[in-house]
Amino acid sequence: MSLPAVPAPGPGRHLPPPAHSSGARAPRIPPHRLPRHVAIIMDGNGRWAAGLGAARTRGHRSGSRAMIDVVDGALEVGLAQLSLYAFSTENWGRPAAEVDGIMLLLHEVLRSNLRRWHEQGIRVLWSGRRTRAAAGIRTELEAAEYLTRDNELLTVAVCFDYGSRAELLDAVRLLAVDVATGRVEPVALQEEDLAGYLYQPDMSEIDLLVRTGGEQRISNFLLWQAAYAELIFEQTLWPDFDRRDLWRAVQAYTRRQRRFGGSGAGDPGVTAAG
Ligand code: IPE
Ligand code: IPE
Ligand code: MG
Repeated sequence: MSLPAVPAPGPGRHLPPPAHSSGARAPRIPPHRLPRHVAIIMDGNGRWAAGLGAARTRGHRSGSRAMIDVVDGALEVGLAQLSLYAFSTENWGRPAAEVDGIMLLLHEVLRSNLRRWHEQGIRVLWSGRRTRAAAGIRTELEAAEYLTRDNELLTVAVCFDYGSRAELLDAVRLLAVDVATGRVEPVALQEEDLAGYLYQPDMSEIDLLVRTGGEQRISNFLLWQAAYAELIFEQTLWPDFDRRDLWRAVQAYTRRQRRFGGSGAGDPGVTAAG
Protein backbone atom coordinates (compact mmCIF):
# COMPACT_ATOMS: atom_id res chain seq x y z
CA MET A 1 0.00 0.00 0.00
CA SER A 2 1.10 3.57 -0.43
CA LEU A 3 1.47 5.60 2.73
CA PRO A 4 -0.36 8.92 2.81
CA ALA A 5 2.30 11.60 2.57
CA VAL A 6 0.40 14.10 4.70
CA PRO A 7 1.36 14.22 8.37
CA ALA A 8 -1.39 14.56 10.98
CA PRO A 9 -2.19 18.25 11.54
CA GLY A 10 -0.82 18.14 15.10
CA PRO A 11 -2.31 18.63 18.54
CA GLY A 12 -5.44 20.79 18.62
CA ARG A 13 -5.62 21.01 14.85
CA HIS A 14 -7.29 17.78 13.96
CA LEU A 15 -9.84 17.38 11.25
CA PRO A 16 -13.24 17.15 12.97
CA PRO A 17 -15.20 13.94 12.37
CA PRO A 18 -17.92 14.36 9.72
CA ALA A 19 -21.38 14.73 11.23
CA HIS A 20 -23.87 11.89 11.04
CA SER A 21 -26.07 12.01 7.95
CA SER A 22 -29.11 12.74 10.17
CA GLY A 23 -27.38 15.83 11.53
CA ALA A 24 -27.52 14.35 15.06
CA ARG A 25 -24.79 15.59 17.38
CA ALA A 26 -23.07 13.75 20.19
CA PRO A 27 -24.46 14.16 23.70
CA ARG A 28 -22.24 16.29 25.91
CA ILE A 29 -20.92 13.99 28.60
CA PRO A 30 -18.18 15.18 30.95
CA PRO A 31 -14.96 13.26 30.28
CA HIS A 32 -14.83 11.73 33.77
CA ARG A 33 -18.24 10.10 33.22
CA LEU A 34 -17.39 8.60 29.85
CA PRO A 35 -16.27 5.02 29.52
CA ARG A 36 -12.60 5.28 28.69
CA HIS A 37 -12.47 2.10 26.66
CA VAL A 38 -15.45 0.74 24.70
CA ALA A 39 -15.28 -2.62 22.94
CA ILE A 40 -17.80 -3.78 20.35
CA ILE A 41 -18.68 -7.24 19.05
CA MET A 42 -20.01 -6.22 15.67
CA ASP A 43 -22.41 -9.12 15.07
CA GLY A 44 -25.38 -9.73 12.82
CA ASN A 45 -24.09 -9.02 9.31
CA GLY A 46 -25.11 -12.45 7.98
CA ARG A 47 -28.64 -12.25 9.36
CA TRP A 48 -29.01 -8.71 8.03
CA ALA A 49 -28.11 -9.95 4.53
CA ALA A 50 -30.37 -12.99 4.86
CA GLY A 51 -33.24 -10.65 5.67
CA LEU A 52 -32.73 -9.08 2.25
CA GLY A 53 -32.23 -12.43 0.55
CA ALA A 54 -28.68 -11.29 -0.24
CA ALA A 55 -25.28 -12.95 0.12
CA ARG A 56 -23.56 -12.63 3.51
CA THR A 57 -20.86 -10.49 1.95
CA ARG A 58 -23.46 -7.80 1.35
CA GLY A 59 -24.05 -7.77 5.09
CA HIS A 60 -20.34 -7.43 5.74
CA ARG A 61 -20.18 -4.52 3.29
CA SER A 62 -22.98 -2.68 5.08
CA GLY A 63 -21.34 -3.62 8.36
CA SER A 64 -18.13 -1.93 7.29
CA ARG A 65 -20.08 1.29 6.73
CA ALA A 66 -21.50 1.00 10.25
CA MET A 67 -17.98 0.57 11.57
CA ILE A 68 -16.77 3.73 9.84
CA ASP A 69 -19.67 5.71 11.25
CA VAL A 70 -19.13 4.37 14.76
CA VAL A 71 -15.44 5.36 14.67
CA ASP A 72 -16.49 8.94 13.86
CA GLY A 73 -19.11 8.79 16.59
CA ALA A 74 -16.57 7.56 19.14
CA LEU A 75 -14.34 10.50 18.30
CA GLU A 76 -17.26 12.92 18.42
CA VAL A 77 -18.44 11.82 21.87
CA GLY A 78 -14.88 11.86 23.20
CA LEU A 79 -13.96 8.22 23.81
CA ALA A 80 -10.28 7.48 24.31
CA GLN A 81 -10.24 3.86 23.17
CA LEU A 82 -12.42 1.75 20.94
CA SER A 83 -11.81 -1.95 20.27
CA LEU A 84 -13.69 -3.49 17.34
CA TYR A 85 -14.06 -7.25 16.83
CA ALA A 86 -13.58 -7.49 13.08
CA PHE A 87 -12.58 -11.14 12.58
CA SER A 88 -12.09 -13.88 15.13
CA THR A 89 -9.67 -16.79 15.22
CA GLU A 90 -12.76 -19.01 14.78
CA ASN A 91 -14.05 -17.07 11.75
CA TRP A 92 -11.41 -18.75 9.56
CA GLY A 93 -13.75 -21.74 9.64
CA ARG A 94 -16.28 -19.93 7.43
CA PRO A 95 -16.55 -20.63 3.69
CA ALA A 96 -13.54 -19.32 1.74
CA ALA A 97 -15.65 -16.93 -0.33
CA GLU A 98 -16.97 -15.24 2.82
CA VAL A 99 -13.51 -15.04 4.42
CA ASP A 100 -12.05 -13.58 1.21
CA GLY A 101 -14.87 -11.06 1.04
CA ILE A 102 -14.20 -9.91 4.62
CA MET A 103 -10.46 -9.52 3.87
CA LEU A 104 -11.23 -7.45 0.79
CA LEU A 105 -13.55 -5.21 2.77
CA LEU A 106 -10.96 -4.61 5.46
CA HIS A 107 -8.51 -3.58 2.72
CA GLU A 108 -11.10 -1.20 1.35
CA VAL A 109 -11.95 0.29 4.73
CA LEU A 110 -8.29 1.00 5.44
CA ARG A 111 -7.57 2.33 1.97
CA SER A 112 -10.55 4.68 1.96
CA ASN A 113 -10.36 5.92 5.54
CA LEU A 114 -6.81 5.75 6.83
CA ARG A 115 -5.71 9.18 5.68
CA ARG A 116 -8.81 10.80 7.12
CA TRP A 117 -8.49 8.87 10.40
CA HIS A 118 -4.88 10.00 10.62
CA GLU A 119 -5.88 13.61 10.07
CA GLN A 120 -8.58 13.22 12.71
CA GLY A 121 -5.96 12.20 15.27
CA ILE A 122 -6.89 8.51 15.40
CA ARG A 123 -4.31 5.94 16.30
CA VAL A 124 -4.94 2.54 14.70
CA LEU A 125 -3.75 -0.63 16.41
CA TRP A 126 -4.02 -4.23 15.32
CA SER A 127 -4.86 -6.69 18.02
CA GLY A 128 -4.59 -10.31 16.95
CA ARG A 129 -2.34 -13.06 15.64
CA ARG A 130 -0.03 -11.75 12.95
CA THR A 131 1.02 -15.01 11.38
CA ARG A 132 -2.03 -16.22 9.48
CA ALA A 133 -3.32 -13.16 7.67
CA ALA A 134 -2.38 -12.76 4.01
CA ALA A 135 0.71 -10.61 3.46
CA GLY A 136 -1.35 -7.83 1.87
CA ILE A 137 -3.64 -7.29 4.82
CA ARG A 138 -0.74 -7.66 7.27
CA THR A 139 1.22 -4.97 5.46
CA GLU A 140 -1.80 -2.69 5.35
CA LEU A 141 -2.60 -3.03 9.06
CA GLU A 142 1.02 -2.61 10.09
CA ALA A 143 1.38 0.45 7.84
CA ALA A 144 -1.72 1.91 9.48
CA GLU A 145 -0.20 1.32 12.91
CA TYR A 146 3.03 2.94 11.85
CA LEU A 147 1.46 5.98 10.18
CA THR A 148 -0.81 6.76 13.13
CA ARG A 149 1.55 5.77 15.95
CA ASP A 150 1.80 9.29 17.44
CA ASN A 151 -1.91 10.16 17.31
CA GLU A 152 -3.56 10.56 20.69
CA LEU A 153 -7.17 11.61 20.29
CA LEU A 154 -8.73 8.16 19.93
CA THR A 155 -7.11 4.74 19.76
CA VAL A 156 -8.99 2.26 17.60
CA ALA A 157 -7.92 -1.36 18.00
CA VAL A 158 -8.92 -3.45 15.01
CA CYS A 159 -9.25 -6.93 16.50
CA PHE A 160 -8.44 -9.02 13.48
CA ASP A 161 -7.61 -12.72 13.71
CA TYR A 162 -8.26 -12.08 17.35
CA GLY A 163 -9.19 -14.68 19.92
CA SER A 164 -8.80 -14.24 23.63
CA ARG A 165 -7.58 -17.77 24.18
CA ALA A 166 -4.99 -17.38 21.42
CA GLU A 167 -3.92 -14.07 22.98
CA LEU A 168 -3.51 -15.67 26.40
CA LEU A 169 -1.68 -18.65 24.92
CA ASP A 170 0.67 -16.36 22.98
CA ALA A 171 1.25 -14.36 26.18
CA VAL A 172 2.02 -17.50 28.18
CA ARG A 173 4.45 -18.67 25.49
CA LEU A 174 6.38 -15.37 25.68
CA LEU A 175 6.27 -15.43 29.44
CA ALA A 176 7.54 -19.03 29.55
CA VAL A 177 10.57 -17.99 27.50
CA ASP A 178 11.28 -15.15 29.94
CA VAL A 179 10.97 -17.53 32.87
CA ALA A 180 13.19 -20.11 31.20
CA THR A 181 15.89 -17.53 30.51
CA GLY A 182 15.69 -16.16 34.04
CA ARG A 183 14.31 -12.71 33.10
CA VAL A 184 11.14 -13.30 35.11
CA GLU A 185 10.79 -14.77 38.57
CA PRO A 186 7.42 -16.63 38.66
CA VAL A 187 6.60 -15.83 42.29
CA ALA A 188 7.24 -12.11 41.73
CA LEU A 189 4.87 -11.94 38.75
CA GLN A 190 1.91 -9.55 39.15
CA GLU A 191 -1.30 -9.17 37.14
CA GLU A 192 0.08 -6.05 35.41
CA ASP A 193 3.15 -8.03 34.37
CA LEU A 194 0.98 -10.67 32.71
CA ALA A 195 -1.04 -7.94 30.99
CA GLY A 196 2.26 -6.70 29.56
CA TYR A 197 2.48 -9.84 27.41
CA LEU A 198 -0.90 -9.31 25.73
CA TYR A 199 -1.20 -8.04 22.14
CA GLN A 200 -1.80 -4.44 23.23
CA PRO A 201 -0.23 -3.97 26.64
CA ASP A 202 -1.05 -0.25 26.73
CA MET A 203 -4.79 -0.70 26.32
CA SER A 204 -6.70 0.07 29.49
CA GLU A 205 -9.36 -2.25 30.87
CA ILE A 206 -12.66 -2.26 29.04
CA ASP A 207 -15.34 -0.18 30.70
CA LEU A 208 -18.18 -0.95 28.32
CA LEU A 209 -18.62 -3.97 26.07
CA VAL A 210 -21.42 -3.78 23.49
CA ARG A 211 -22.60 -6.69 21.37
CA THR A 212 -25.07 -6.18 18.56
CA GLY A 213 -27.12 -8.87 16.84
CA GLY A 214 -29.06 -10.15 19.84
CA GLU A 215 -26.73 -12.92 21.03
CA GLN A 216 -25.71 -12.68 24.66
CA ARG A 217 -22.24 -14.13 24.66
CA ILE A 218 -18.62 -13.02 24.58
CA SER A 219 -17.39 -15.32 21.76
CA ASN A 220 -13.73 -15.33 22.86
CA PHE A 221 -13.37 -11.53 22.89
CA LEU A 222 -11.02 -9.75 25.30
CA LEU A 223 -11.67 -12.06 28.24
CA TRP A 224 -8.84 -10.65 30.32
CA GLN A 225 -9.50 -7.00 29.51
CA ALA A 226 -13.27 -7.22 30.01
CA ALA A 227 -13.09 -8.73 33.51
CA TYR A 228 -15.14 -5.87 34.98
CA ALA A 229 -16.69 -4.40 31.85
CA GLU A 230 -20.29 -3.27 31.86
CA LEU A 231 -22.18 -5.32 29.25
CA ILE A 232 -24.81 -4.11 26.82
CA PHE A 233 -26.48 -6.50 24.38
CA GLU A 234 -28.34 -4.86 21.51
CA GLN A 235 -30.92 -6.54 19.28
CA THR A 236 -29.92 -4.29 16.39
CA LEU A 237 -28.03 -6.13 13.67
CA TRP A 238 -24.63 -4.55 13.13
CA PRO A 239 -25.32 -3.02 9.66
CA ASP A 240 -28.26 -1.12 11.20
CA PHE A 241 -26.13 0.24 14.05
CA ASP A 242 -24.70 3.74 13.85
CA ARG A 243 -23.04 6.33 16.05
CA ARG A 244 -26.37 7.29 17.65
CA ASP A 245 -26.69 3.75 19.01
CA LEU A 246 -23.15 4.01 20.35
CA TRP A 247 -24.05 7.27 22.10
CA ARG A 248 -27.15 5.65 23.62
CA ALA A 249 -25.01 2.81 24.95
CA VAL A 250 -22.53 5.31 26.39
CA GLN A 251 -25.38 7.19 28.07
CA ALA A 252 -26.71 3.92 29.51
CA TYR A 253 -23.22 3.25 30.85
CA THR A 254 -23.21 6.54 32.75
CA ARG A 255 -26.24 5.28 34.70
CA ARG A 256 -24.59 2.01 35.72
CA GLN A 257 -23.10 1.51 39.14
CA ARG A 258 -19.74 -0.22 39.06
CA ARG A 259 -18.52 -1.94 42.18
CA PHE A 260 -15.41 -3.93 41.30
CA GLY A 261 -16.19 -6.35 44.07
CA GLY A 262 -16.69 -3.66 46.70
CA SER A 263 -19.86 -3.06 48.69
CA GLY A 264 -20.84 -0.08 46.55
CA ALA A 265 -21.74 1.97 49.63
CA GLY A 266 -19.89 5.20 50.27
CA ASP A 267 -17.01 4.06 48.17
CA PRO A 268 -15.88 6.88 45.88
CA GLY A 269 -15.13 5.91 42.33
CA VAL A 270 -17.47 2.92 42.18
CA THR A 271 -20.03 4.37 39.79
CA ALA A 272 -19.61 4.73 36.07
CA ALA A 273 -19.92 8.42 36.76
CA GLY A 274 -16.68 8.11 38.71
C1 IPE B 1 -20.33 -10.50 12.29
O1 IPE B 1 -21.48 -10.86 11.62
C2 IPE B 1 -19.17 -10.34 11.35
C3 IPE B 1 -18.13 -11.37 11.50
C4 IPE B 1 -18.19 -12.36 12.35
C5 IPE B 1 -16.97 -11.25 10.64
P1 IPE B 1 -21.82 -12.36 11.30
O2 IPE B 1 -21.24 -12.70 9.96
O3 IPE B 1 -21.41 -13.27 12.40
O4 IPE B 1 -23.39 -12.30 11.19
P2 IPE B 1 -24.45 -13.33 11.79
O5 IPE B 1 -24.17 -13.44 13.26
O6 IPE B 1 -24.26 -14.62 11.09
O7 IPE B 1 -25.76 -12.69 11.51
C1 IPE C 1 -18.06 -12.79 16.92
O1 IPE C 1 -19.16 -13.10 16.14
C2 IPE C 1 -16.91 -12.40 16.03
C3 IPE C 1 -17.01 -11.10 15.38
C4 IPE C 1 -18.00 -10.26 15.51
C5 IPE C 1 -15.89 -10.75 14.54
P1 IPE C 1 -19.47 -14.58 15.69
O2 IPE C 1 -20.68 -14.54 14.85
O3 IPE C 1 -18.26 -15.20 15.09
O4 IPE C 1 -19.76 -15.32 17.08
P2 IPE C 1 -20.66 -16.58 17.40
O5 IPE C 1 -20.24 -17.66 16.44
O6 IPE C 1 -22.08 -16.18 17.19
O7 IPE C 1 -20.38 -16.90 18.83
MG1 MG D 1 -22.35 -13.84 14.12
